[in-house]
Amino acid sequence: MRHALVLAAALAAAQAWAGGDAQRGQQAYEAQCGGCHSVEFDRIGPRHAGIMGRRAGSVPGFAYSPALRNSGLVWDAALLERWLANPEALVPGQRMGYQLEDAQLRADIIAYLATLVSRRP
Ligand code: HEC
Repeated sequence: MRHALVLAAALAAAQAWAGGDAQRGQQAYEAQCGGCHSVEFDRIGPRHAGIMGRRAGSVPGFAYSPALRNSGLVWDAALLERWLANPEALVPGQRMGYQLEDAQLRADIIAYLATLVSRRP
């Protein structure tokens, strides 16, 4: 019984760390990323619908840096964490002139990005 409680607490903590808070993430996304990105449309940066599991640099018609287009990465939570913390360290030569210092905000935004299912085929 005691073991089960400890395990449940550990699982909850792991989810909080890994998952972030998608609702807070949506607000942070609008504040931090909305100047350059939107969910459904390309702006200064590419659209984010369907970003989880998408190949990096693969939105048709968006003018990516060759570095990102040829990176061979497929976006998941761990890679997005590294990208947002320091894009240039992950993909030297990339063109996103932005990084996010706050680890909690990164986790929240990644949780929000995970909810963005692509509505395009
Ligand atoms: C100053 C403008 C700017 C801001 C602010 C910005 N980005 Fe970007 N982002 C870009 C550009 C430009 C690219 C394309 C980079 C390239 O081609 O190398 C990009 C690319 C990306 C990619 C890769 C997408 C793909 O299709 O492979 C992700 C993911 C991303 N940004 C997430 C974010 C998130 C999340 C935020 C907010 C926390 C953010 N960006 C803030 C300009 C920005």
